Amino acid sequence: MNFNEIIRKKRFSEKLNKDEIDFFVKHFTDGTIPDYQASALLMAICINGMDEEETYNLTFAMLKSGEILNFNTEKLIADKHSTGGVGDKTTFIVTPLFAAMGGKSVKMSGRGLGHTGGTADKIESIPNIKINLTKSEILNQINKVGACMITQSENIAVADKKIYALRNATETVESNALIASSIMSKKLGCGADVIVLDVKFGSGAFMKTKEQAEKLAKIMINIGKEADKKVSVILSDMNIPLGYNIGNSLEIIEAIEVLKNNGDKRLRELSINLAAKMYSLAFSEKFETSLELANSKLSDLSAFNKFSEIIKAQGGDITYIEDTNKFKKAKHKKEIFALSSGYISKIDTQNIGKVSLILGAGRLQKTDVLDLSAGIILNKTLGDKIQKGELLATLHTDNSEKIEKAKNEFLKSIHISKNKPHIEPVIYKILD
Ligand code: URA
Repeated sequence: MNFNEIIRKKRFSEKLNKDEIDFFVKHFTDGTIPDYQASALLMAICINGMDEEETYNLTFAMLKSGEILNFNTEKLIADKHSTGGVGDKTTFIVTPLFAAMGGKSVKMSGRGLGHTGGTADKIESIPNIKINLTKSEILNQINKVGACMITQSENIAVADKKIYALRNATETVESNALIASSIMSKKLGCGADVIVLDVKFGSGAFMKTKEQAEKLAKIMINIGKEADKKVSVILSDMNIPLGYNIGNSLEIIEAIEVLKNNGDKRLRELSINLAAKMYSLAFSEKFETSLELANSKLSDLSAFNKFSEIIKAQGGDITYIEDTNKFKKAKHKKEIFALSSGYISKIDTQNIGKVSLILGAGRLQKTDVLDLSAGIILNKTLGDKIQKGELLATLHTDNSEKIEKAKNEFLKSIHISKNKPHIEPVIYKILD
């Protein structure tokens, strides 16, 4: 098969057949197809799209490029995955909460992508934590404490690892076909029986509109059902960063606040709904009943205690969970003050994600080393009233040279006007 022909077909919006898609995945994974040719095809897919059949074939080719786990446990294993957002720290709440409700989950997470942070990077801000577990370690841990939070195994959806890194470097992230195949190949490879997807829309998400997000959601639900999995989607708003903290350890600290029954209401609401959806699918329970259980296990600190158990089982230092002041502080802080009075009427959330990357919380290049204490703490969010000169946010970084650029970008991302804006609820729709 001639790979140039495959690129050419997609460049002119023709449909690729299963053999062509299998050829691309197989030979990009084994290194025969170089990055520059794969990039050209990814860009053509990004621009011209793929239909459901092509997306389905791409997903299964990527799934078959790696190992497919099967835990064979008595209870159904559940997993949740987000399409990526800014300040998205729900994993650290949902995973222990679902385990405290009696569920079992193996939460495999990726590294940062585009302007969004990576959950695997965030977990690593807890000192000594081990996030590369073998299959028997995973089984042992889910039997003992109900859940683990780990990085994606090297052996699952091997093709995705390479494609993901290339997409990140070539501005080819925003594509329904590429996002659906990336997420679903990993989820199907992880051995979960129940998959709950948090599909985000809005300025901080890859899908900018509800319609695009819903289309992506339906594709992923169909792929999951085709593979005999129980799948649901929560469509959630990402026009506002989720919570107030953005950056690796800063997000862990905020998640712990919610686990301690304080913290941001939108973050709490989304987390409870995700855990409840996992429970209702895994235990065939009514959603309302599952919501009540999730609420009570968060309120009575069972989820907080479970979080400590999970971290301890993975070798993490739980004194940081007990006292979040122990997390390393960034060397430099810069307070940013409002330039005018009014309401915060719009936030360019994607740009806020980029500010966090500039500060060192994410990778601009594949090889960048993260500054785990870098990021942003917002003092005000969408809809809040603010006076000129009042504190808007504090930037945190170890690299003082980045602060001015980050400050200017941050100020460009926040709009202040006389009128109070309409604020969308954090959950738009739940789809089964
Ligand atoms: N998360 C993934 O795992 N892959 C994507 O393409 C986007 C979000």
